[in-house]
Amino acid sequence: MTPDPHPWAYDLSLLYGEVWTRLTRGVHDRHAPARHPTLATVTSEGRPQARTVVMRAADKRAGTLDVYTDLGSAKVKNMRAAPFAALHVWDRSAHLQLRLEADVTILIGRDVATIWEGVPPTSRLSYGVTPAPGQPISRALDYTKVSDAESFAVLRLEISSVDALHLGPNHRRARFDRESDWIGTWLVP
Ligand SMILES: Cc1cc2nc3c(=O)[nH]c(=O)nc-3n(C[C@H](O)[C@H](O)[C@H](O)COP(=O)(O)O)c2cc1C
Repeated sequence: MTPDPHPWAYDLSLLYGEVWTRLTRGVHDRHAPARHPTLATVTSEGRPQARTVVMRAADKRAGTLDVYTDLGSAKVKNMRAAPFAALHVWDRSAHLQLRLEADVTILIGRDVATIWEGVPPTSRLSYGVTPAPGQPISRALDYTKVSDAESFAVLRLEISSVDALHLGPNHRRARFDRESDWIGTWLVP
């Protein structure tokens, strides 16, 4: 019999470690599935909104993830009204779906000055655009990108729960909660 390629999926503690290994890989490896998670928010009318983002930082000990964005974007407006988010990753090679719930803090200005220093000049152009993101324009390129530190926001996602679904010969699903110190419990998949 061939050995299972994902032995970590059999044990709650190993599975939780693997979750963070995969999330962290997204920060450093542009080809990792967690490099481009889907971030979901809700509008003030309670409607869901989802979009692709780039994973910028992962801190297992604090249980936080960082995403960079333009302060004028709709997602920031959503998070001001409802400071919560969900993050989704499908890691195909690990046969692992991750669904994370988070409380969000929008960091700006002096709080992100050091992070802004580390953003390469070409990438800084992603933060600051006129008119503001999402505004209607007459022609497709009727906008100007400027590098603007005032428009740079870091969304700090304080993860409250992780739902991990592993697809194997037998499917396994587990939930890890901050309030239970990430101990984890198996769920019916
Ligand atoms: C591969 C990829 C990576 C992206 N990364 C980011 C990102 O890190 N931050 C961001 O604000 N938008 C990112 N975007 C754009 C968002 O998906 C979205 O179109 C934009 O932020 C506007 O979303 P909003 O109107 O819901 O705020 C990315 C899009 C793609 C396709």
